[in-house]
Amino acid sequence: MDSTDMGTDLSKILITEEQIDSRLAEMASDIDRDYEGKEILVLGVLKGAVMVMADLVRKLHSPVTMDWMAVSSYGSGTKSSGVVRILKDLETDLQGRHVLIVEDIIDSGLTLSWLKSNLESRGPASVKIATLLRKPEAATVDIEVSYVGFDIPNEFVVGYGLDYDEKYRHLPFVGTLAPHVYGG
Ligand code: IMP
Ligand code: MG
Repeated sequence: MDSTDMGTDLSKILITEEQIDSRLAEMASDIDRDYEGKEILVLGVLKGAVMVMADLVRKLHSPVTMDWMAVSSYGSGTKSSGVVRILKDLETDLQGRHVLIVEDIIDSGLTLSWLKSNLESRGPASVKIATLLRKPEAATVDIEVSYVGFDIPNEFVVGYGLDYDEKYRHLPFVGTLAPHVYGG
């Protein structure tokens, strides 16, 4: 899918495919440096993190295993509440493992904050977070994010894994939607 397939639904391209690719390369080299001599359990949060996971792990030189979790955050509309339900749990025992959570975007940070403490209760050696995108509100929540791709404005974005109503996940770039799409 590319921007020509979106007709008038796309308002603008915020981050291009090339920008994502080069930023992920920088993040991967930071991760390799920080985890030197350690095996990383890279944990993707379904479904949004699929693209970031696929592209990031292929840039890593460290030994890696991959696992996935699906969580759903109860909330009204587009706001998350921090009350989280596990839809699909890990298949890996976390005892003594170095866990790197990979996310597409951190908005309020509530989902991730819950997830991190849930994982920490399972006896891992460490739990760190990497995200491609971070919105301004996340900076106000007390959660340490070790690797951030891009800090973006407080706009609703789609593409590169991110959806609006399950659509637009397969865009290779991150863009903002035209207001008519979401009834604005
Ligand atoms: P929060 O950090 O708990 O508020 O929730 C983050 C989740 O909300 C992400 O994993 C996304 O699924 C979703 N989300 C937040 N902002 C956006 C956006 O701009 N576009 C698409 N999904 C978003
Ligand atoms: Mg979503």
